[in-house]
Amino acid sequence: MPRHLMNPLDFSVEELDRLFSLAANIEKEPERYAHICDGKKLATCFYEPSTRTRLSFEAAMLNLGGNVLGFSDAGSSSAAKGESVSDTIRVISCYADICAIRHPKEGAAYVAASKSSIPVINAGDGGHQHPTQTLTDLLTIKSLKGDLNNFTIGMCGDLKFGRTVHSLINALSRYSGIKFIFISPVELKVPDYITEMLKDKGITYEEVEKLEDVMPDLDILYMTRVQRERFFNEEDYVRLKNFYILTKEKMELAKPDMLVLHPLPRVNEISVEVDDDPRAVYFKQAQYGVYVRMALIMTLLGLAD
Ligand code: NCD
Repeated sequence: MPRHLMNPLDFSVEELDRLFSLAANIEKEPERYAHICDGKKLATCFYEPSTRTRLSFEAAMLNLGGNVLGFSDAGSSSAAKGESVSDTIRVISCYADICAIRHPKEGAAYVAASKSSIPVINAGDGGHQHPTQTLTDLLTIKSLKGDLNNFTIGMCGDLKFGRTVHSLINALSRYSGIKFIFISPVELKVPDYITEMLKDKGITYEEVEKLEDVMPDLDILYMTRVQRERFFNEEDYVRLKNFYILTKEKMELAKPDMLVLHPLPRVNEISVEVDDDPRAVYFKQAQYGVYVRMALIMTLLGLAD
Protein backbone atom coordinates (compact mmCIF):
# COMPACT_ATOMS: atom_id res chain seq x y z
CA MET A 1 0.00 0.00 0.00
CA PRO A 2 1.38 3.44 -0.88
CA ARG A 3 1.75 5.99 1.87
CA HIS A 4 -0.34 9.15 1.49
CA LEU A 5 -0.46 12.56 3.19
CA MET A 6 -4.00 13.75 3.88
CA ASN A 7 -3.64 15.50 7.22
CA PRO A 8 -0.54 16.69 9.10
CA LEU A 9 -1.33 14.11 11.81
CA ASP A 10 -0.59 11.30 9.32
CA PHE A 11 3.07 11.77 10.27
CA SER A 12 4.22 11.23 13.84
CA VAL A 13 6.19 14.01 15.55
CA GLU A 14 9.35 11.89 15.11
CA GLU A 15 8.66 11.47 11.39
CA LEU A 16 8.15 15.21 11.09
CA ASP A 17 11.48 15.79 12.83
CA ARG A 18 13.17 13.56 10.26
CA LEU A 19 11.39 15.35 7.44
CA PHE A 20 12.50 18.77 8.74
CA SER A 21 16.13 17.65 9.13
CA LEU A 22 16.06 16.33 5.59
CA ALA A 23 14.60 19.66 4.41
CA ALA A 24 17.38 21.51 6.30
CA ASN A 25 20.02 19.32 4.61
CA ILE A 26 18.42 20.00 1.24
CA GLU A 27 18.58 23.74 1.94
CA LYS A 28 22.30 23.45 2.82
CA GLU A 29 23.41 21.16 0.01
CA PRO A 30 20.78 21.09 -2.74
CA GLU A 31 23.22 19.58 -5.28
CA ARG A 32 23.41 16.36 -3.26
CA TYR A 33 19.74 15.73 -4.03
CA ALA A 34 19.69 16.82 -7.65
CA HIS A 35 19.30 13.29 -9.08
CA ILE A 36 17.44 11.44 -6.33
CA CYS A 37 14.24 11.34 -8.40
CA ASP A 38 15.76 10.79 -11.83
CA GLY A 39 13.17 9.01 -13.96
CA LYS A 40 10.30 9.64 -11.50
CA LYS A 41 7.16 11.61 -12.32
CA LEU A 42 4.95 13.82 -10.18
CA ALA A 43 1.37 14.49 -11.33
CA THR A 44 -0.23 17.72 -10.11
CA CYS A 45 -4.02 17.53 -10.39
CA PHE A 46 -5.38 20.94 -9.47
CA TYR A 47 -9.14 21.44 -9.63
CA GLU A 48 -8.80 24.82 -7.88
CA PRO A 49 -6.59 27.87 -8.48
CA SER A 50 -3.06 27.82 -7.08
CA THR A 51 0.28 29.50 -7.64
CA ARG A 52 2.61 28.53 -4.80
CA THR A 53 1.42 25.06 -3.99
CA ARG A 54 1.42 23.72 -7.53
CA LEU A 55 4.55 25.50 -8.66
CA SER A 56 6.45 24.67 -5.47
CA PHE A 57 5.53 20.99 -5.94
CA GLU A 58 6.73 21.16 -9.52
CA ALA A 59 9.91 23.02 -8.57
CA ALA A 60 10.52 20.45 -5.82
CA MET A 61 10.26 17.52 -8.23
CA LEU A 62 12.39 19.25 -10.88
CA ASN A 63 15.04 20.08 -8.24
CA LEU A 64 15.19 16.36 -7.42
CA GLY A 65 15.79 15.46 -11.07
CA GLY A 66 12.25 14.18 -11.71
CA ASN A 67 9.60 15.27 -14.18
CA VAL A 68 6.12 16.72 -13.80
CA LEU A 69 2.81 16.43 -15.59
CA GLY A 70 -0.72 17.44 -14.75
CA PHE A 71 -3.44 20.03 -15.08
CA SER A 72 -4.05 23.31 -13.30
CA ASP A 73 -7.68 23.82 -14.17
CA ALA A 74 -10.54 21.36 -13.81
CA GLY A 75 -12.03 22.83 -16.99
CA SER A 76 -9.14 21.48 -19.05
CA SER A 77 -9.32 17.98 -17.52
CA SER A 78 -11.90 15.25 -18.04
CA ALA A 79 -13.67 16.49 -14.91
CA ALA A 80 -15.32 18.88 -17.36
CA LYS A 81 -16.80 15.81 -19.08
CA GLY A 82 -18.06 14.43 -15.78
CA GLU A 83 -15.26 12.06 -14.84
CA SER A 84 -15.06 11.23 -11.12
CA VAL A 85 -11.97 11.87 -9.00
CA SER A 86 -11.67 8.12 -8.35
CA ASP A 87 -11.54 7.30 -12.06
CA THR A 88 -9.08 10.10 -12.75
CA ILE A 89 -6.68 8.93 -10.03
CA ARG A 90 -6.78 5.33 -11.25
CA VAL A 91 -5.61 6.55 -14.61
CA ILE A 92 -3.01 8.96 -13.17
CA SER A 93 -1.61 6.00 -11.17
CA CYS A 94 -0.59 4.47 -14.54
CA TYR A 95 1.21 7.63 -15.66
CA ALA A 96 3.01 8.96 -12.58
CA ASP A 97 4.83 7.79 -9.43
CA ILE A 98 3.26 10.28 -7.03
CA CYS A 99 0.36 12.73 -7.19
CA ALA A 100 -0.53 16.04 -5.52
CA ILE A 101 -4.22 16.87 -5.71
CA ARG A 102 -6.18 20.03 -4.87
CA HIS A 103 -9.95 20.02 -4.98
CA PRO A 104 -12.72 22.40 -3.83
CA LYS A 105 -14.61 19.57 -2.09
CA GLU A 106 -13.70 18.52 1.43
CA GLY A 107 -12.65 14.88 1.40
CA ALA A 108 -11.83 14.67 -2.34
CA ALA A 109 -8.17 13.86 -1.63
CA TYR A 110 -9.25 11.03 0.66
CA VAL A 111 -11.39 9.54 -2.10
CA ALA A 112 -8.43 9.77 -4.48
CA ALA A 113 -6.08 8.13 -1.95
CA SER A 114 -8.49 5.25 -1.39
CA LYS A 115 -8.38 4.36 -5.10
CA SER A 116 -4.76 5.12 -5.83
CA SER A 117 -1.83 2.77 -6.27
CA ILE A 118 0.66 5.66 -5.94
CA PRO A 119 1.20 8.07 -2.99
CA VAL A 120 -1.36 10.89 -2.97
CA ILE A 121 -0.70 14.24 -1.31
CA ASN A 122 -3.60 16.45 -0.27
CA ALA A 123 -2.70 19.88 -1.64
CA GLY A 124 -5.88 21.41 -0.16
CA ASP A 125 -9.40 20.00 0.06
CA GLY A 126 -12.00 22.74 0.26
CA GLY A 127 -12.07 24.51 3.62
CA HIS A 128 -10.81 21.37 5.37
CA GLN A 129 -7.05 20.67 5.40
CA HIS A 130 -3.84 21.76 3.70
CA PRO A 131 -1.10 19.59 5.20
CA THR A 132 1.81 20.63 2.97
CA GLN A 133 1.23 24.29 3.82
CA THR A 134 1.46 23.19 7.44
CA LEU A 135 4.75 21.40 6.80
CA THR A 136 5.94 24.67 5.26
CA ASP A 137 4.72 26.68 8.26
CA LEU A 138 6.32 24.30 10.77
CA LEU A 139 9.64 24.28 8.92
CA THR A 140 9.59 28.09 8.82
CA ILE A 141 8.93 28.32 12.56
CA LYS A 142 11.53 25.67 13.39
CA SER A 143 14.17 27.23 11.17
CA LEU A 144 13.62 30.81 12.31
CA LYS A 145 12.64 30.30 15.97
CA GLY A 146 14.66 27.14 16.56
CA ASP A 147 11.84 25.23 18.26
CA LEU A 148 8.27 24.06 17.76
CA ASN A 149 7.40 24.24 21.46
CA ASN A 150 6.63 27.06 23.88
CA PHE A 151 5.24 30.01 21.99
CA THR A 152 2.09 32.05 21.64
CA ILE A 153 0.65 32.09 18.15
CA GLY A 154 -2.07 34.47 17.00
CA MET A 155 -4.07 33.29 14.02
CA CYS A 156 -5.88 36.14 12.36
CA GLY A 157 -8.49 36.48 9.63
CA ASP A 158 -10.73 33.84 8.14
CA LEU A 159 -10.43 31.03 10.68
CA LYS A 160 -13.68 29.45 9.54
CA PHE A 161 -12.85 28.66 5.93
CA GLY A 162 -9.05 28.88 6.10
CA ARG A 163 -7.81 25.32 5.67
CA THR A 164 -4.19 26.30 6.38
CA VAL A 165 -5.28 27.40 9.85
CA HIS A 166 -7.15 24.15 10.50
CA SER A 167 -4.15 22.04 9.54
CA LEU A 168 -1.69 24.18 11.49
CA ILE A 169 -3.78 24.01 14.68
CA ASN A 170 -3.98 20.22 14.32
CA ALA A 171 -0.24 19.95 13.90
CA LEU A 172 0.70 22.34 16.71
CA SER A 173 -1.67 20.62 19.14
CA ARG A 174 0.98 17.88 19.50
CA TYR A 175 3.75 20.19 20.73
CA SER A 176 3.99 21.53 24.25
CA GLY A 177 3.58 25.02 25.66
CA ILE A 178 1.68 26.36 22.66
CA LYS A 179 -0.90 29.02 23.38
CA PHE A 180 -3.37 29.80 20.61
CA ILE A 181 -5.02 33.19 20.24
CA PHE A 182 -7.70 33.16 17.54
CA ILE A 183 -8.36 36.62 16.14
CA SER A 184 -11.42 36.87 13.91
CA PRO A 185 -14.80 38.49 13.49
CA VAL A 186 -17.55 36.39 15.05
CA GLU A 187 -18.72 35.19 11.60
CA LEU A 188 -15.29 33.71 10.80
CA LYS A 189 -14.48 31.92 14.05
CA VAL A 190 -12.60 28.61 14.16
CA PRO A 191 -15.04 25.70 13.61
CA ASP A 192 -16.35 23.98 16.73
CA TYR A 193 -14.81 20.63 15.85
CA ILE A 194 -11.39 22.23 16.24
CA THR A 195 -12.04 24.05 19.50
CA GLU A 196 -13.59 20.80 20.85
CA MET A 197 -10.38 18.98 19.96
CA LEU A 198 -8.33 21.60 21.81
CA LYS A 199 -10.60 21.36 24.87
CA ASP A 200 -10.32 17.56 24.86
CA LYS A 201 -6.55 17.84 24.84
CA GLY A 202 -6.54 20.52 27.58
CA ILE A 203 -4.88 23.07 25.29
CA THR A 204 -5.40 26.75 26.09
CA TYR A 205 -6.85 29.07 23.52
CA GLU A 206 -8.42 32.49 23.52
CA GLU A 207 -10.81 34.00 20.98
CA VAL A 208 -10.69 37.75 20.42
CA GLU A 209 -11.82 40.20 17.78
CA LYS A 210 -9.27 43.00 18.03
CA LEU A 211 -5.76 42.36 16.75
CA GLU A 212 -4.22 45.36 18.55
CA ASP A 213 -5.29 44.03 21.96
CA VAL A 214 -3.19 40.89 21.69
CA MET A 215 -0.35 42.03 19.44
CA PRO A 216 2.17 42.54 22.32
CA ASP A 217 1.63 38.94 23.53
CA LEU A 218 2.42 37.18 20.25
CA ASP A 219 5.58 35.31 19.26
CA ILE A 220 4.05 34.46 15.90
CA LEU A 221 1.28 36.17 13.98
CA TYR A 222 -0.27 33.95 11.29
CA MET A 223 -2.27 36.18 8.96
CA THR A 224 -4.79 34.77 6.47
CA ARG A 225 -6.92 36.09 3.65
CA VAL A 226 -10.73 36.07 3.76
CA GLN A 227 -11.61 33.06 1.57
CA ARG A 228 -13.93 34.70 -0.94
CA GLU A 229 -14.54 31.50 -2.93
CA ARG A 230 -16.04 29.71 0.08
CA PHE A 231 -18.61 32.39 0.93
CA PHE A 232 -22.25 31.81 0.15
CA ASN A 233 -22.85 35.42 -0.77
CA GLU A 234 -20.72 38.28 -2.01
CA GLU A 235 -22.28 40.80 0.41
CA ASP A 236 -20.87 38.98 3.44
CA TYR A 237 -17.48 38.80 1.79
CA VAL A 238 -17.46 42.52 1.00
CA ARG A 239 -18.43 43.35 4.58
CA LEU A 240 -15.65 41.20 6.06
CA LYS A 241 -12.82 41.37 3.53
CA ASN A 242 -10.99 44.35 5.07
CA PHE A 243 -11.72 43.51 8.70
CA TYR A 244 -7.98 43.19 9.41
CA ILE A 245 -5.19 45.12 7.81
CA LEU A 246 -1.75 44.71 9.34
CA THR A 247 0.07 48.03 9.12
CA LYS A 248 3.41 49.48 10.26
CA GLU A 249 1.65 51.13 13.19
CA LYS A 250 0.24 47.82 14.40
CA MET A 251 3.66 46.20 14.00
CA GLU A 252 5.00 48.76 16.49
CA LEU A 253 2.90 47.08 19.18
CA ALA A 254 4.58 43.71 18.57
CA LYS A 255 7.63 42.08 20.15
CA PRO A 256 10.90 42.86 18.38
CA ASP A 257 11.29 39.19 17.43
CA MET A 258 7.68 38.34 16.58
CA LEU A 259 7.38 36.61 13.20
CA VAL A 260 4.63 37.38 10.71
CA LEU A 261 3.66 34.35 8.60
CA HIS A 262 1.07 34.19 5.83
CA PRO A 263 0.41 31.21 3.53
CA LEU A 264 -0.19 33.70 0.68
CA PRO A 265 -1.82 34.87 -1.54
CA ARG A 266 -2.25 38.15 0.28
CA VAL A 267 -5.10 40.42 -0.68
CA ASN A 268 -5.38 43.47 1.62
CA GLU A 269 -4.73 41.97 5.03
CA ILE A 270 -1.06 42.92 5.16
CA SER A 271 -0.15 46.34 3.94
CA VAL A 272 2.83 46.20 1.52
CA GLU A 273 4.76 48.63 3.74
CA VAL A 274 5.12 45.77 6.26
CA ASP A 275 7.10 43.68 3.74
CA ASP A 276 10.36 45.49 4.57
CA ASP A 277 10.04 44.73 8.28
CA PRO A 278 12.55 41.95 9.10
CA ARG A 279 9.81 40.23 11.12
CA ALA A 280 7.74 39.73 7.96
CA VAL A 281 8.87 36.30 6.78
CA TYR A 282 6.08 35.25 4.40
CA PHE A 283 8.23 35.28 1.28
CA LYS A 284 10.93 33.26 3.04
CA GLN A 285 8.14 30.90 4.10
CA ALA A 286 7.29 30.29 0.43
CA GLN A 287 10.92 29.26 -0.16
CA TYR A 288 10.79 26.79 2.75
CA GLY A 289 7.77 25.29 0.98
CA VAL A 290 10.03 24.00 -1.79
CA TYR A 291 12.54 22.36 0.59
CA VAL A 292 9.84 20.68 2.63
CA ARG A 293 8.03 19.39 -0.48
CA MET A 294 11.33 17.98 -1.76
CA ALA A 295 11.74 16.17 1.55
CA LEU A 296 8.13 14.98 1.41
CA ILE A 297 8.35 13.62 -2.13
CA MET A 298 11.54 11.72 -1.19
CA THR A 299 9.92 10.36 1.96
CA LEU A 300 6.71 9.15 0.27
CA LEU A 301 8.68 7.57 -2.56
CA GLY A 302 10.83 5.71 -0.02
CA LEU A 303 13.98 7.59 -1.13
CA ALA A 304 14.69 9.45 2.10
CA ASP A 305 17.11 6.95 3.58
C1 NCD B 1 -3.68 28.76 0.75
C2 NCD B 1 -4.75 27.79 0.29
O1 NCD B 1 -4.82 27.46 -0.89
O2 NCD B 1 -5.49 27.38 1.17
N1 NCD B 1 -2.77 29.06 -0.28
C3 NCD B 1 -1.64 28.32 -0.38
O3 NCD B 1 -1.71 27.16 -0.71
N2 NCD B 1 -0.47 28.88 -0.03
C4 NCD B 1 -4.18 29.97 1.40
C5 NCD B 1 -5.19 30.79 0.69
O4 NCD B 1 -5.56 30.52 -0.47
O5 NCD B 1 -5.63 31.76 1.29
